[in-house]
Amino acid sequence: MRAQINPSILSADFARLADEAQAVAGADWLHVDVMDNHFVPNLTLGVPVVESLRKATDTPLDCHLMIEDPDRWAPRYVEAGAGSVTFHVEAAAAPVRLAREIRAQGARASMALKPATPIEPYEDLLPELDMLLVMTVEPGFGGQAFLDIMLPKIRRTRELIAKHGLELWLQVDGGVSESTIERCAEAGADVFVAGSAVYGADDPAAAVRALRERAES
Ligand code: DX5
Ligand code: ZN
Repeated sequence: MRAQINPSILSADFARLADEAQAVAGADWLHVDVMDNHFVPNLTLGVPVVESLRKATDTPLDCHLMIEDPDRWAPRYVEAGAGSVTFHVEAAAAPVRLAREIRAQGARASMALKPATPIEPYEDLLPELDMLLVMTVEPGFGGQAFLDIMLPKIRRTRELIAKHGLELWLQVDGGVSESTIERCAEAGADVFVAGSAVYGADDPAAAVRALRERAES
């Protein structure tokens, strides 16, 4: 299975975002963490920054919305140039309607689960989605330790995707590094977000290659 590596710009230098976006040549997507200081206790960036990033790189943008009221905001991120938009099911008022709206706009629709949110109640929603994100840390900050206890959830999610015969991508986000990525891949993840493991490295592009090699080994 080909692994996709999505560097998270949360760990990049926000004053040099264009350079930082270009420093990860070979990345599949650029992961853009949007936080509103309500859904999570941290504040990052919004629509205008995504619009500018869109012009600064050819790498498609994977926007992870850790915000309240994604029903209202997610379509704005598609308009701003996101190729994939992930909303949190804990925050969405109408996840099916929202996923359909994102797809109708021409972007990939993705839904995220916080560590304490189970997948089982959402099994019927899977056909509405292009990707499911299983968080492997509590959302809000980069650089946290990977939660091993999420591995069974990744495995169960992969089984449900297979059971329904879907082409859904399964993303993991949080604490993904050269020492944890193999476990995630073995459990069934195929899209890997990495912030500190990429932007904390001396050579971010080499870090992307190393992560991909590990995930595909
Ligand atoms: C955390 C964010 C992550 C974060 C990951 O809430 O959603 O995307 O940037 O950072 P690392 O890879 O350092 O855990
Ligand atoms: Zn993220």
